[in-house]
Amino acid sequence: MPADSTAPTKALADFFPNQRKNLPIALTTEDVKGKTYIVTGATGGIGYELAKHLVRLEAARVIIGARNEERGKAAKATIEGDAGRKDVVEIWPLDLASYESVKAFGKRIETAERIDALVLNAGVSHAGWQVKEGNEANLTVNFIANYLLAFMALPHMQAVAKTHGITPRLVVVGSMGAFFAGESIKKFPSEGILDDLNDRAKWESDFTNRYSVTKLLQHMAARQLASLRPVSDVGIVVNVVDPGFCKTGLNKELSVWTRAKAWLAKVTLGRSAEMGSRTLVHGVKVGEESHGKYLTSCEIREDHIPEWVTNEAGQAIQKQIWDELLAKLDKIKPGLPSRVIVDWA
Ligand SMILES: NC(=O)c1ccc[n+]([C@@H]2O[C@H](COP(=O)([O-])OP(=O)(O)OC[C@H]3O[C@@H](n4cnc5c(N)ncnc54)[C@H](OP(=O)(O)O)[C@@H]3O)[C@@H](O)[C@H]2O)c1
Repeated sequence: MPADSTAPTKALADFFPNQRKNLPIALTTEDVKGKTYIVTGATGGIGYELAKHLVRLEAARVIIGARNEERGKAAKATIEGDAGRKDVVEIWPLDLASYESVKAFGKRIETAERIDALVLNAGVSHAGWQVKEGNEANLTVNFIANYLLAFMALPHMQAVAKTHGITPRLVVVGSMGAFFAGESIKKFPSEGILDDLNDRAKWESDFTNRYSVTKLLQHMAARQLASLRPVSDVGIVVNVVDPGFCKTGLNKELSVWTRAKAWLAKVTLGRSAEMGSRTLVHGVKVGEESHGKYLTSCEIREDHIPEWVTNEAGQAIQKQIWDELLAKLDKIKPGLPSRVIVDWA
């Protein structure tokens, strides 16, 4: 962990005791029975364990966004097999590294007759600089594509929510790692942040922090979206969940040496993917009080957010990132941001 003035002191103080907690499973069969959920990145890790909980708790339909058909089919087989159920899990193709794939997934969402939660769980931590859709790949996958998907889904989620008289959740799977991006954001320009983050000559030497930076952007955009209107107006709860430090495949691309260090840390401190998934279960369950809030270890913990995120300077960066995100989305799918923002702003 970097020792700098921007380190998240409060979150760090609670991190070690929280990692050892036996977390509750917040949803019951009564909550889940007959409902429809969409979970991205549920071919493995935390998302897979969330999908397992939802199927076991008798969801009617669990749609998994998967970039690899074989892994998707394997996940469906084991999830349904373990629950002793059939024809509940649907695997829909989704590659967040391709805007066309995200658009197709978003369009297909419009066929869902009901959506109780969309869990934006899929994420990456690339070990080296790669470019996808003209941006550094962590930026594309963890940030831009996730919001392309969210923006495509939100109008339909609102429409079907009205039909069913429900308040769906948009659960953004963030990370406490976002709070280690404080030193990196000091290098942000006042505008053109997203373009600047594609400047390889400037940023490659800071690449170990790239995952944190993209998780911070994702976190800030969720807060900005939620800040626009209350749940009573938009009918959707948006929250950000940190699953904790979990034993998953997230670091699979890192060097052998870094993975060895991570493995040691995970053996001593890491949650199982199933334990981590309970934080997502909580994100799906928790109501209006979580709108725009940061959740960790199955609690709303706004006090864990470092001051540099919430102070005036942090809020200015958040607004700037939001405006730049909307501009990007408008280029990717002309008219999309205004379709959503008309309801939210
Ligand atoms: N593990 C942790 O300690 C930790 C801590 C904080 C936050 N998180 C967050 O938790 C979320 C889940 O991560 P995890 O730890 O469960 O990692 P994981 O085991 O690597 O699972 C990631 C999932 O995302 C999918 N995915 C990756 N790239 C994708 C793409 N381009 N398009 C569609 N799906 C893609 C993967 O699919 P494939 O099967 O095709 O690879 C997999 O299903 C991430 O958002 C991560 O940032 C994790």
